[in-house]
Amino acid sequence: MSPLVISTLLFISFASSSLVRSAKYSVLSYGAKPDGKTDSTKAFAAAWSQACASTKPATLYVPKGIFSLSQVIFQGPCKNNAILVSVAGSLVAPSDYGLIGGAKNWLVFEHVNGVTLSGGTLDGQGAGLWSCKKSGKSCPSGATSLEFSNSNNIVITGLTSLNSQMFHIVINACQNVKVKGVRVSAAGNSPNTDGIHVSSSTSVTILNSRIGTGDDCVSIGPGTSNLWIENVACGPGHGISIGSLGQDVQEAGVQNVTVKTTTFTGTENGVRIKSWGRPSNGFARNILFQHAVMNNVQNPIIIDQNYCPGNKNCPGQASGVQISDVTYQDIHGSSAKEIAVKFDCSKKYPCTGIKLEDINLTYQNQPAEASCTNARGAASGLVQPTSCL
Ligand SMILES: *[C@@H]1O[C@H](CO)[C@@H](O)[C@H](O)[C@H]1NC(C)=O
Ligand SMILES: *[C@@H]1O[C@H](CO)[C@@H](O)[C@H](O)[C@H]1NC(C)=O
Repeated sequence: MSPLVISTLLFISFASSSLVRSAKYSVLSYGAKPDGKTDSTKAFAAAWSQACASTKPATLYVPKGIFSLSQVIFQGPCKNNAILVSVAGSLVAPSDYGLIGGAKNWLVFEHVNGVTLSGGTLDGQGAGLWSCKKSGKSCPSGATSLEFSNSNNIVITGLTSLNSQMFHIVINACQNVKVKGVRVSAAGNSPNTDGIHVSSSTSVTILNSRIGTGDDCVSIGPGTSNLWIENVACGPGHGISIGSLGQDVQEAGVQNVTVKTTTFTGTENGVRIKSWGRPSNGFARNILFQHAVMNNVQNPIIIDQNYCPGNKNCPGQASGVQISDVTYQDIHGSSAKEIAVKFDCSKKYPCTGIKLEDINLTYQNQPAEASCTNARGAASGLVQPTSCL
């Protein structure tokens, strides 16, 4: 045979074997019921353990319908590194928050590699826990709806997350994660319902997503590097926030974060960096906020290094967190408060290398104001409010 024929035959056998080789596991085969009532937790766990034990690429399939689930741990490591979790239906948490509210999370993937979670709606049914928290009674802190931890090469695409008890999506201690086309929705006054929280992770990308919630749309915790956020709409919510940093004395820093092409509507903050006012060796450096539109945002551009809720364990102390090389480029729109640009930096470690370029923020159709404390840097291009650097 000619080399061409041989390579064509090899290609055909490779292509067909890879089709045959992908194993499919439907949760229905393990007893899950799409009726919105039957607890399908065990069925999901059983289907996952088969997909995870497969030595070939595997698909875990969740068809249309409503599946009632308490905590599911999608535990790795697995025997293959190509698992597609394809969800057509809705996964619903118990309406009694007592059942999972004391657990850290509801649906959690741990120590997995090469998992794609595609589609689906997660409903955390958090409203009961939110009202408990707002009543001042003692309540569990609540479960994060979806967490990936200690995992690599993850894709989350086309997912909708509604009404989580606590955070909606957490990426912790992961490498190479792509989050795309995600929608998060919870009431604007729901406590601690951050949209996407990233911490201790490298090379995370968040694209084309729409987040409305009661806390930060995206929050970026210690130990995050090479994070890229692009084309995200935020509101209601507390904005896109690096922090809180400096809660601990020994803490990993945040570096190389790009937040690009974002829209904030009616939010408490736009782009924020926040640290506790107390000693820490943490830092935030090489941060770029570019192309943001602010619609009636209370603090469009803010660095707050004096975070000290309830004035407990930190009054009067300077933040140890060192903030440097932060660029704000092409940010315009309206501020809901007179001060649209606020840099309130540490008196011990002033912010350095702050750059403002092409900023136009108005308050009631007039130029807004800027306020600087312990902040150093430069402005270029049109900068309105007039820079205080
Ligand atoms: C910064 O992060 C981006 C991804 O967000 C990456 O492509 C780039 O290489 C990183 N730069 C450095 C200096 O690590
Ligand atoms: C700033 O934005 C306002 C509102 O969009 C606009 O009226 C004003 O002309 C802009 N200023 C400059 C100098 O471009």
